[in-house]
Amino acid sequence: MTIFFKIVFLIFLAVALFGFFFTEKFLNCFHSFNSWYYKICGIDAQFKTISPTITKISCLLGFIFLCVIYVAEVKDLDKQNLNTAAEEQKTTITETINLEDPDMKTVYDFLKKCQTYYLATVENNQPRVRPFGTIDLFEDKLYIQTGKVKNVSKQIAQNPKIEICAFDGNTWIRIEATAVNDDRIEAKQHMLDNYPTLQKMYKADDNNTQVLYLKDATATFYSFTQEPKVVKF
Ligand SMILES: Cc1cc2nc3c(=O)[nH]c(=O)nc-3n(C[C@H](O)[C@H](O)[C@H](O)COP(=O)(O)O)c2cc1C
Repeated sequence: MTIFFKIVFLIFLAVALFGFFFTEKFLNCFHSFNSWYYKICGIDAQFKTISPTITKISCLLGFIFLCVIYVAEVKDLDKQNLNTAAEEQKTTITETINLEDPDMKTVYDFLKKCQTYYLATVENNQPRVRPFGTIDLFEDKLYIQTGKVKNVSKQIAQNPKIEICAFDGNTWIRIEATAVNDDRIEAKQHMLDNYPTLQKMYKADDNNTQVLYLKDATATFYSFTQEPKVVKF
């Protein structure tokens, strides 16, 4: 709502309330304004007296009408704010990650940005999918983290073919790869250093923490507006 609209709105509201609660005074003001107006315009007109009841009803209707306009305007404003927030989010995502010439770092940045990705494994003949969040760049390889006690770990041990999918609201990525277990303490510690909250549940030497890097990976970025972009690493 602009300042001008607010001022006009408040004036109309005040007039409507004044007319409703002080009908006689309102009519007097109206009469003198009216005769003054006719005098200025040089019109010799006879002013008809308006009934106070009709004035009261008109002012009440005017008041209700103004309230409806106000509510509609505020709702519209809320919608605009939500749209702006969504637009801002979209621009930050596309601003920070350049998808023109993507590489492994772009894939890492994208997954980091999405925060949650979905990891699919195969159990016998059945696909299994779950949310994952850990992603780390270590020694020029892309790592994920899990616990050896989890079914996901057992499935990968049985069949290391995995697929990852994530969506940032604009672009989505699909990565097909082979997951390779890396039992080195330094690889696990690097992951845990990057996820301090995980350190409450996992230790690099607890025999449960597992990190796996993606081998023979093909990552494809998709969007509704651009041709898919493929990265192999
Ligand atoms: C947002 C989110 C992120 C997660 N990230 C991970 C992760 O990086 N590693 C992990 O082992 N589990 C993670 N989990 C938990 C797994 O999704 C959960 O343990 C799942 O059941 C594992 O799959 P499974 O039951 O087939 O073993 C995450 C859960 C959520 C909701």
